[in-house]
Amino acid sequence: MNNSAKNLFDLTGRVAVITGGIGLLGQQHAEAIAGAGGIPVMADIRIGSVDPQSTAFKERFGEEACAIEVDITDPASVKALLAQVLSRYGRVDILVNNAANNPKMENKAEVEFSRLENFPIEQWEADLAVGLKGTFLCSQIIGAEMARRRQGVIVNIASDLAVIAPDQRLYRKPGLTEEKQPVKPVTYSVVKTGLVGLTRYLATYWADYGIRVNAISPGGVYNNQPDDFVERLTKLIPLRRMANANEYQAAILFLCSDASSYMTGTNVVIDGGRSCW
Ligand SMILES: NC(=O)c1ccc[n+]([C@@H]2O[C@H](COP(=O)([O-])OP(=O)(O)OC[C@H]3O[C@@H](n4cnc5c(N)ncnc54)[C@H](O)[C@@H]3O)[C@@H](O)[C@H]2O)c1
Repeated sequence: MNNSAKNLFDLTGRVAVITGGIGLLGQQHAEAIAGAGGIPVMADIRIGSVDPQSTAFKERFGEEACAIEVDITDPASVKALLAQVLSRYGRVDILVNNAANNPKMENKAEVEFSRLENFPIEQWEADLAVGLKGTFLCSQIIGAEMARRRQGVIVNIASDLAVIAPDQRLYRKPGLTEEKQPVKPVTYSVVKTGLVGLTRYLATYWADYGIRVNAISPGGVYNNQPDDFVERLTKLIPLRRMANANEYQAAILFLCSDASSYMTGTNVVIDGGRSCW
């Protein structure tokens, strides 16, 4: 890569808030941004055992990276997050809306509640609160600060299930009656499809304010799911395997950097070809 091409991907000094930043993919997004010189702020409801002062954290995510506790479903908490970011760094350049309730149906023996007919309204509200309301609030509050400075990038993390319906045969468990067979919950499809709509809305709404907004729709990441599930899923994927956790880093880097300066309002599908079939 020549120097000018390299510069296109450079994020030196750019501050990136990543919601759900402590999760499986959040840490990958943070690593990608740090690798290009950016400063990841991992914003999560559970910071847990992660120690931003530790050498391991600094080596992986950079000297200036930090982790901040936030509940993205609460406007006051998101405002407090922004205030902390501005007081610490004086700017925010990138927002990666990554947090979501991510139900792992494939790991559960019997998830009767997941079925549409039984789906609890409390679960509907909880899933939409994180996936849609939370993404809206972060975009509204942090995006408004970007609009004020007339520059910024928002990346929404959707899913291959934003472009195709879940194939419920994947989640079937032997020995259960039809009414007890687990399914991918309806909220997952609703949240992820909604994010693609929100992406288009924000992209056009803030186009004149120097803010670009795009989505990524990742396919399933291999994370020690049961063998029978992996076997069934990979038959539906032309590349014949699930993704490695680090295989979305390049897309994050592309969409967060000036390399994608003429892209807004798009949904980049990275799914091993699954949605082609
Ligand atoms: N892992 C996959 O196979 C896959 C595939 C496609 C899309 N995705 C999407 O990628 C994103 C990340 O997935 P993941 O696998 O890393 O999930 P994950 O469960 O490991 O991470 C999600 C993070 O969001 C945080 N979170 C939940 N509620 C929150 C709240 N109210 N406020 C702040 N943070 C909150 C959690 O604490 C967690 O750390 C999700 O949007 C998911 O739907 C994942």
